Amino acid sequence: MPGLHIQGGIPLNGEIAASGAKNAALPLLAACIMLKGTSILTNVPHLMDVFTMIKMLNSLGVRAELHKGNRVIINNTKKVRHIAPYDLVTAMRASFFVAGPLVARTGFAKVPLPGGCSIGSRPIDIHLKGFERLGVEHRIEHGFVEMKAKSLKGAVVHMDFPSVGATENVMMAASLAVGTTVIENAAREPEITDLGNFLNKAGAQITGHGTAVITIHGVPELTGTEHAVVSDRIEAGSLLLAGAITGGEVTVTNTVPEHSAPLLEKLREAGFQISVGPTWMKVDACSQFNGVDIETLPFPGFPTDMQAQMMALLTLANGTSIIKESIFENRFMHAHELMRMGAKIKLDNRHAIITGVPKLTAAEVKMTDLRAGAALILAALAAQGTTDIHGLKHLRRGYDDLPGKLRSLGARITE
Ligand code: EPZ
Repeated sequence: MPGLHIQGGIPLNGEIAASGAKNAALPLLAACIMLKGTSILTNVPHLMDVFTMIKMLNSLGVRAELHKGNRVIINNTKKVRHIAPYDLVTAMRASFFVAGPLVARTGFAKVPLPGGCSIGSRPIDIHLKGFERLGVEHRIEHGFVEMKAKSLKGAVVHMDFPSVGATENVMMAASLAVGTTVIENAAREPEITDLGNFLNKAGAQITGHGTAVITIHGVPELTGTEHAVVSDRIEAGSLLLAGAITGGEVTVTNTVPEHSAPLLEKLREAGFQISVGPTWMKVDACSQFNGVDIETLPFPGFPTDMQAQMMALLTLANGTSIIKESIFENRFMHAHELMRMGAKIKLDNRHAIITGVPKLTAAEVKMTDLRAGAALILAALAAQGTTDIHGLKHLRRGYDDLPGKLRSLGARITE
């Protein structure tokens, strides 16, 4: 199984540009199902999940092609099929983002139930409840969700939980509904703001995206447009932590620092010197830092996608830290691997209590999910000795050449 070989103990220094956000590119690509004509997405990250979504669009009859320079050109001129292929949906549960656009565009959608994954059961009840409010009839059989709607009607959709995917799916479907939809208790992540901006460029009439109340006045048609994918705040945060954990000075460019505000706040609280500019953020070299307490929450709270990476850092803090994972029910698998490197962590249901240790030591470890992979790489960069990390496929799914970016900061990583 391909793996990474990382020599630890080398402070990382320098400047690195973040790529476009995976979690923005995926819904943006799905939204193109509803846009007539040609769309161009730029700043698209090169990673497996994006390639899977491009395959998905082509399998539905929407021509999508990846061009050099991180551009994807989408031609949506032919009739669209409404059945999403099983193998692609199970390869990536985010494929469920095609459900809203499909039912809005064709009146039908037949999408395999997305599987759970290692971090949780990942239900879609909030998505389905939202669709129901818009007039979609749905049933689940043979592992597929079948949806049909003669026409979508605007409605008030109250989300039991501010689900990112459900907010995006309902916002997309509502864009082509007849009448006005108000999504209450909507998720506020920057990727949702980016999707709303894209849809408005295509002719949608959306306001409030990025706040807890999104209003969508349905329009009869959306047309292709051009859009740059927003910068990846999770990749940017992971790169910044690579500097922090190795005691180096790292500047991440091509970012929106305010999207990383919760992380920067916690790093300052731990004692790091953080500076930001309009599109960059920097951590100064610092050898001693303190433990901090963290609870993962919907944006603008601390992001669950940074929880594993932050845990890796806090294993080396002075003092104790408590992390509460309030979003997913099983997102501490990386703790067991970190303990094999000498970390002192106690797990108690949704809480992890981390007692800082003076050093980590290299070990043979494996990635269990995407962000756990980034956490193990961070730990390996700081550990004494050379660490072997297995499970590279998780990394390739969600990061655009993270090892290459770290090598450009001085990391000794071979694949
Ligand atoms: C998105 O997943 C991201 N994925 C996740 O990133 C991220 O961790 C998550 O949002 C939270 O920020 C993409 O954008 C492709 P949710 P999503 O719906 O939309 C429960 C990564 O590493 N829930 O906000 O699936 C759910 O079980 C990935 O890049 C329901 O109960 O997240 C979870 O506990 C991992 N019913 C919580 O809400 C539903 O219908 C948050 O899920 C939907 C969700």
